[in-house]
Amino acid sequence: MSDNILEVRDACVTFEKRNSVVHAVDHISLTMRRGAMLGLVGESGSGKSTLARAIVGLQPLDSGEVVIDGMDQHARARLKGHARAEVVQMVFQDPYSSLNPRMSVGEAIGEVLDTYEHLSHDERRESVAELLRLVHLGPEVAPKMPNQLSGGMRQRIAVAKCLAVRPKLIVADEITSALDVSVQAVVLNLIKSLHRELGLSMLFISHNLAAVRYICDDIAVMHHGRIVEIGSAEQIVTAPKDPYTRSLVGAIPSLEDAGRDVLLDPALAGGAAAAGAASVAGAAAGNTGDRATAVAAGER
Ligand SMILES: Nc1ncnc2c1ncn2[C@@H]1O[C@H](COP(=O)(O)OP(=O)(O)O)[C@@H](O)[C@H]1O
Ligand SMILES: [Mg+2]
Repeated sequence: MSDNILEVRDACVTFEKRNSVVHAVDHISLTMRRGAMLGLVGESGSGKSTLARAIVGLQPLDSGEVVIDGMDQHARARLKGHARAEVVQMVFQDPYSSLNPRMSVGEAIGEVLDTYEHLSHDERRESVAELLRLVHLGPEVAPKMPNQLSGGMRQRIAVAKCLAVRPKLIVADEITSALDVSVQAVVLNLIKSLHRELGLSMLFISHNLAAVRYICDDIAVMHHGRIVEIGSAEQIVTAPKDPYTRSLVGAIPSLEDAGRDVLLDPALAGGAAAAGAASVAGAAAGNTGDRATAVAAGER
């Protein structure tokens, strides 16, 4: 079995726009090791979501290959049911899109488990509680409906539903970007602990370099449909080679000026520090810090 969970080989996706052609994914190649946490960063419109959708099979390629766990897109298309679902799962920016408003949290997670396991009522309840525990929620959340949950909790439920599939690869596209600033840090810390606990292979996509740097081992920088630079998080941030990467990194010192920067200092990244981290994460995301403090208490 290959050590690489993901190999993108010379992938291209173009869109026709009125009289022009947009090269959203322009001859991209990249590989990702099993168990790695790879960050993909770039400004809005750089093609990150198109690449993400191409990787999970929601967007056809014009040319090139996406090999996941040794299978290209054609081999994966022949798989059925859970065998197909477990290869790769995506978590989206807006958790509402992946949660049925008429299904309780427990039913939604239980439904995923039912696609591949025959569980008794009690076993299913146990498995749901275990998945909720993984996303730092208690079993009392199981009977709740999506509209009874905060944005951060909904996103954690979306992560739990994804984990219920036991996917070999997870593609997370801007999963903290729609959240209130205080909650972003909570979800980032959750992803970080899940990676440690479960050894997940995850492509973590965000326009926020500080967030990506905080949780990823390696970072790929995307600009105008191309990967302009890929390296360790340390190298990207301390010794960026590409001019575009340098401009992204140049935006970080303003965060450090903000004082105690939890996103950039793992030693401060405990739960108690999360609310403090939030205003920094928020600054990076262009949000205000005030709302953060108000939401922080209810969120944890
Ligand atoms: N379905 C589509 N039809 C036409 N153009 C699209 C479509 N999806 C994305 N694009 C264009 O492709 C480019 C990359 O978009 P996207 O992948 O969403 O970037 P990002 O996720 O980095 O913001 C943009 O110019 C966008 O307008
Ligand atoms: Mg996007």
